[in-house]
Amino acid sequence: MERFSKITLSAVIAALVSVGCGGDDSGAGFASGAFGGSSGPPDSSGMIFDGIGSADALSTTEIAITWPAATNVEGTPAALMLYHVYRFQLNPGMGQTFADVPAPSETNFTYLGSPQRGATSFVDNGIIEQPGTSTFSGTNVFYWVRAEDPQGRKSLSQVIAGANVPLAGSGDTMVYGSNEGTPHYEFANMTDDAGRTCLSCHTVTPGQGSLDLDTWEGIMTGTGTSSAPDTFVVPYQAEMTWANFMSGITSNPAHHLLYLSQANEILAWKDNVIGPWVEDGALNSVDLEPPIFEFDSIHNAGQYSAEFTSFNEVTVTWFQATDPESSPYGAGGETAAGQIDYYVYYGPNSNAIDWDNPVQADAWNGAGAHSVVIPGYTQSEIAIVVRGKDKTDNWTVNEKEIRLRR
Ligand code: HEC
Repeated sequence: MERFSKITLSAVIAALVSVGCGGDDSGAGFASGAFGGSSGPPDSSGMIFDGIGSADALSTTEIAITWPAATNVEGTPAALMLYHVYRFQLNPGMGQTFADVPAPSETNFTYLGSPQRGATSFVDNGIIEQPGTSTFSGTNVFYWVRAEDPQGRKSLSQVIAGANVPLAGSGDTMVYGSNEGTPHYEFANMTDDAGRTCLSCHTVTPGQGSLDLDTWEGIMTGTGTSSAPDTFVVPYQAEMTWANFMSGITSNPAHHLLYLSQANEILAWKDNVIGPWVEDGALNSVDLEPPIFEFDSIHNAGQYSAEFTSFNEVTVTWFQATDPESSPYGAGGETAAGQIDYYVYYGPNSNAIDWDNPVQADAWNGAGAHSVVIPGYTQSEIAIVVRGKDKTDNWTVNEKEIRLRR
């Protein structure tokens, strides 16, 4: 990893990958990302406090906030310090943007609470969804932390940290199901001229056909076995699935002949039943699980990075997220290829990432690592976050922020 060797060689070029969308080490007033104990001169209150360290999304409704321990001119032990957490949430509906984040104060920000004395972290689980102005954007939130010593003196740090939580998944998935319009319902109700439904033959018992259409496991196993499935269904591939389905029916003419008078109704399944179900991932139940970036997997080592590749270009590389809930069934289904759309967000620093305007949406289908170029970027610093969204609009929430400086 060339980028990292450059960093260690030069104390001037600082670049780091920090977990989450936390602090920012540039510009006064924003979190430094430093942890441990606060150092430096006391402020005029007599407190020594670096201010909030980071704010990271944990889910679509929770943000974790951390800060370094405070002390004071007397050197009061960290365990005796009390911290007060404040929040400011942007309201894009009211036209608010980053520029509207006010200077932190007890009146400008909302008091959320104070963990027990000595604790240096807090989870805000009361995020109110305030979507940004585009479909890419979640909710932007800013935090401010004040330290208070046992004598009641309060720190004056003006440092704030921002985080963005993605929107919750839509849950809008067509499932195999039993409601009208789902594949299972249609198979159970489509009668031929002899009064038989698809399930009259396509069930395990008594079933004339070896294909079991009565259960999701059955259709996904096809005429094969659970260890060697041979289904006509190819998740996310409506055309291919439909071609397989039609050839299955027409290559067994004797059994399906009495459906001729229903031909038009069956043909319409392509657009109103089987196609939409397959496009949603051919699932058995609604998927509300977000995809996950497995940063700790050895296979992904070194594959989440960015570098300045020219005076006005930054190249960002990432690896595929995993998403078992929306993966195709069976062998080869372990990768989330073709199922997750990735978006690359960036800004001059952590707190000024433009969540409304990612680099061009990239529906990437491959396995392994993938890169995109951020064009026309000439500033000296950049903070980058990659997020993935599955077909049910569940966004990754475990993320890493890449920060570069040139
Ligand atoms: C009279 C019994 C009968 C009825 C009714 C029937 N099928 Fe079949 N079908 C079969 C038989 C037998 C096969 C041969 C494969 C097997 O054993 O499942 C077959 C094969 C298929 C295949 C190909 C399976 C594959 O992967 O090779 C599909 C798809 C299929 N049927 C769908 C349907 C649908 C949809 C309906 C209702 C509209 C239906 N069938 C109604 C008996 C029937």
